[in-house]
Parts: sequence; C-alpha cells; structure tokens
Amino acid sequence: MNKEKELQQLNQDWAKKIKSPLLKTCKQIVAGVGSANADIMVIGEAPGKKEDELGEPFVGSAGKFLDQMLETINLKRSDIYITNIVKCRPPDNRDPLPEEKAEFWPWLMAQIKLINPKLIVTLGRHSLSSFVPEPIMSKIHGTILRKDMPGLGKVRIYALYHPAAALYNGGMRETLIKDFKKIPKIIKLIAKGEI
Ligand code: URA
Repeated sequence: MNKEKELQQLNQDWAKKIKSPLLKTCKQIVAGVGSANADIMVIGEAPGKKEDELGEPFVGSAGKFLDQMLETINLKRSDIYITNIVKCRPPDNRDPLPEEKAEFWPWLMAQIKLINPKLIVTLGRHSLSSFVPEPIMSKIHGTILRKDMPGLGKVRIYALYHPAAALYNGGMRETLIKDFKKIPKIIKLIAKGEI
C-alpha cells in the first residue's frame, strides 16, 4: 500500500473507533487534508462551522489567511498536511475540553508517526499546549522546540500564533506572517542536520 492509501485507511479506521460525545453535535469528522509525504504538518485546534460543513480543516476565514501565508512561501495546501488536535467541531466553537483532546490524541499521534514530517507547525496555544504544558505564546512563538515523544522519537515543533486570533490583530498578524516566512529556511536547516 502506498503512503497516501495508508493514511486514508488510518483515518477511516480511527473515524470508526472514535466515541467522542462531540459526534452527537458535529455534522462530520474532519480528519485532515494534504499529502501523506509532507515535510510540514500544520496542526490547529478543532474544526469550526465551515470546516464542519465541508469536512476539511481550515476552510473558513482563518483558512483563507493560512492559504495566503502558504502562497508567500510557494506552498499549496496539497504540499503539506493540515489537521487539528480535535477532529469534531465543539458546539458553538467553544474550546475543546481536556478529555476531548485526550480522546483524539492517539489519532493525531498515529498521523504524525505515518507522515513523519520534518516539522510540526502548531497554530495557537490550544494546539501547542497539547505538546508543551502551559506555553506562553508571546515568548515561544517563532521558536523551534525539540521534543522526545513516546512512540514517535524526536520531533521538531514550530509554534505559531493562530491565524484566527491574528486576523484582526495588526501586531499579531505581522508577527505571524514574519514567523511563517521563516519556514522554508527552517526546513532547509533541518534537511542539512543543522537544527
Ligand atoms: N481553526 C482551527 O483551529 N482549525 C480549523 O480547522 C479551523 C479553524
């Protein structure tokens, strides 16, 4: 089986396994989109209204902003893999609960293990805090964290502000765009074994 098929199968299997109470209120599971061979995996928090309707992550206003930033570094959605910590929309877009994050965590770990990206890009504090306890975004954004993760080995996490939060906040927006533009250089340094 090729990697794309394996990822499709993995997502189908997990979608059947998940028992989350969120299944009662969401329209559909949003597993993820993009390439199984991606160097970059972008991880948000949870699907919103539009994502719930269309079954694809980051297709609302935050998603449009993400697409624009990808364009500035000559990447398309299909070049990377995009997913969320929680794969069902929480009612009224409330923050996901710790038990909801915990239930979807092994699915995300299985996606990361299969894709084996060079870089994990977390969008926002909720995504990052699943990897790093109580992060202070204003200090940690734009930095690379190396973590040894059970079952995965060493991963590199690049912490960014969430595009939905940055969309209407001029300063945060500028910072996010600046941090995002560093991604190609980071990938090159990783490939050369320099970071
Ligand atoms: N915000 C997220 O964190 N994820 C999405 O898929 C959309 C908006």
